Amino acid sequence: MNIKKLAKHNYKSFCSFEGSDYIASEFALETLLKLVTFFKIKNILEVGLGIGSVADTILKLDQKENLGIDYVGTEMNEFCLNALKKNVFHFEKIQLFSEIKDLPSKKFQLIIIDGSDESLNFIREKIEKSPIFFVEGDRKEQTEKILNLFPDHLYVNVITLQKNPSYAHEERDLNSYIGGGQLIFVNPTTAMKIYWVKEKIGTFLKRKIRKWNK
Ligand SMILES: C[S@@+](CC[C@H](N)C(=O)[O-])C[C@H]1O[C@@H](n2cnc3c(N)ncnc32)[C@H](O)[C@@H]1O
Repeated sequence: MNIKKLAKHNYKSFCSFEGSDYIASEFALETLLKLVTFFKIKNILEVGLGIGSVADTILKLDQKENLGIDYVGTEMNEFCLNALKKNVFHFEKIQLFSEIKDLPSKKFQLIIIDGSDESLNFIREKIEKSPIFFVEGDRKEQTEKILNLFPDHLYVNVITLQKNPSYAHEERDLNSYIGGGQLIFVNPTTAMKIYWVKEKIGTFLKRKIRKWNK
């Protein structure tokens, strides 16, 4: 399945949904689909399901490719809880909880952080040996927290050279780049180390190109 196409198509649809102001970027969706595919991820936790753009996109890939993903998410906001039922095509696949501290003792491979949670410290007990964290956008406080909780990590700020499309949410500036994300590999395997090096080089080059294009 074409990951770029799925990310674009789903992002575009979610931009037209009620409450779309806080959805994840098209680049974040694409990055997550790449990670899920490359690392054959089976257990996912999304902190802050919001109106469901991330969950819907990943679960569509899961169904199309028969990946057998277990999807767990947290959300407390009433509006979002209602929106999720309407927006996520495979809503029945989501195991929903209010906060991280309420989660079952599952071992997550990919943890997507796109919302705040006072109980982030509890994440330590819910992860497998070499988990991947993806923090959507900047979210400096949560990124710092993860980096401090897990000293053995490789971290890269992933960015894109694509600018906001005309259909972007929140009426974003078309001359600005689409927002990036924070990718953290904890106790990285060899495959993760290689992936990280490639992303680091990618970010370095993209920063240079952004500077030249100013
Ligand atoms: C950045 S949003 C999560 C977005 C989600 N990952 C998505 O792509 O749809 C983070 C938090 O903001 C809150 N939130 C998101 N959309 C909202 C809305 N339209 N109205 C009120 N709260 C919202 C929710 O509690 C959510 O967990």
